[in-house]
Amino acid sequence: MGVSFRPLAKKLFIKTYGCQMNVYDSARMAELLAPLGYAATEDAGDADMVILNTCHIREKASEKVFSELGRLRAGRRESGRDVIVAVAGCVAQAEGAEIIRRAPEVDIVLGPQTYHRLPELVARAARAHAAKAAQPGAARRGAGLLDTEFPAESKFDSLTVAETSPVSAFLAVQEGCDKFCTFCVVPYTRGAEFSRPVAQVVAEARALAAGGAREITLLGQNVNAYHGEAPDGSTWGLARLIRELADREPDLLRIRYTTSHPRDMDDDLIAAHREVPTLMPFLHLPVQSGSDRVLEAMNRQHGADLFRRVVARLRDARSDLVLSSDFIVGFPGETAADFAATLDLVRETGFAMAYSFKYSPRPGTPAAVLPAQVPEAEKDARLAALQDLLNMQQRDFNRATVGKVVPVLLEKPGRREGQLVGRTPYAQAVHVEAGESMLGRMVEARIEDLGRFSLKGSMESIPFAAAPTALEVRA
Ligand code: 5AD
Ligand code: SF4
Repeated sequence: MGVSFRPLAKKLFIKTYGCQMNVYDSARMAELLAPLGYAATEDAGDADMVILNTCHIREKASEKVFSELGRLRAGRRESGRDVIVAVAGCVAQAEGAEIIRRAPEVDIVLGPQTYHRLPELVARAARAHAAKAAQPGAARRGAGLLDTEFPAESKFDSLTVAETSPVSAFLAVQEGCDKFCTFCVVPYTRGAEFSRPVAQVVAEARALAAGGAREITLLGQNVNAYHGEAPDGSTWGLARLIRELADREPDLLRIRYTTSHPRDMDDDLIAAHREVPTLMPFLHLPVQSGSDRVLEAMNRQHGADLFRRVVARLRDARSDLVLSSDFIVGFPGETAADFAATLDLVRETGFAMAYSFKYSPRPGTPAAVLPAQVPEAEKDARLAALQDLLNMQQRDFNRATVGKVVPVLLEKPGRREGQLVGRTPYAQAVHVEAGESMLGRMVEARIEDLGRFSLKGSMESIPFAAAPTALEVRA
């Protein structure tokens, strides 16, 4: 009788910091490690391998990573478990060998462009652990493997998606940035702009849809600068790519894209908002400031007027378009009048939500060494004022939805049994009473009330056809 071997089930814990691109990268890393026998766990204490997928965009990012490493170290000392520890993402790219110097137990440091090499690095780390285990009394140092290159080969050529996908899935189409805003680390940590070829994107979209995705968010640090190579050798912009996905993938009920730059909102992309019904009428368009002086110092390559013109043209194309944005307060040299211009732009544009941050000097970026850094107390006061205004606008926007019937895509289980969470076209979360069999379906929901972080709705009509693809979404 033969002996059958099951691959040893090992547990992988990934902690993801920062943006949606990191969420996408974490999912790909999990898939790369599945063939090595690693299955995801939500419990760091139970893991055989831990990956911290880090973010470097604002302050204290590195410190947070080192304190998390300290917590993991203490946990391991208590449990006596042998754990492979990897630091990935933008802090890994920025700090490199410094991480191994300060936290010698770390086995692997790898940047955002090299994580396709993770299986090989994990195998080497495992061998190093086995060799140490054979020498009692050996110091508990990690394998010290460092890979923060910007390699010639594209990691995307080695990536796969899992057999099952979330209802709302991310798809990275573009990475890196050539804009060099003076406050931003992205061009240094993620590298130069790169667009994935059209065929690769379409194949991934198809695989995601086959796995159950009904909404796709096309991701890129500068996603509307997408210029991918098409099968006929020509170059496609983002709008052309969106039209292709909308035409060829009927299971994709909703398409979104993020994050955009105002300078790259070209005519075709604006027209796509008019013409592609599955392109959702909600756009995240960071503007950072309403003051031309500050925008110039930020090297944003647009003024407040260009932003206003782009918004007017978008709303002309799609009158129900809803906007969100990113803002930085307290950029070096920002005066009270500059800040007032930001508040004016927020009111005038009517953002339905936005993210706002205090300026944080990032080592190696031009703005970090500018004179006239704004005092912390002033930054605090401006952030509070901006957030008050944004919160008020968000509440008003949500309140205006109450009583309306809107299409809601049911995305995941809610906290309570018998409840699902979905989203409106404007990305508002809605809790609806519905069974799990309704996951992935588009329903019409009447919005009944405002919760603290979401809306409460009730299903008005359930699609009569079996497949959610057959539902006609009421515009
Ligand atoms: N300080 C504060 N906020 C920043 N962002 C990027 N760099 C910084 C920084 N140095 C913000 C911008 C960007 C968002 C992702 O993070 O608003 O759009
Ligand atoms: Fe950073 Fe500016 Fe590039 Fe956005 S456009 S990633 S803010 S450098």
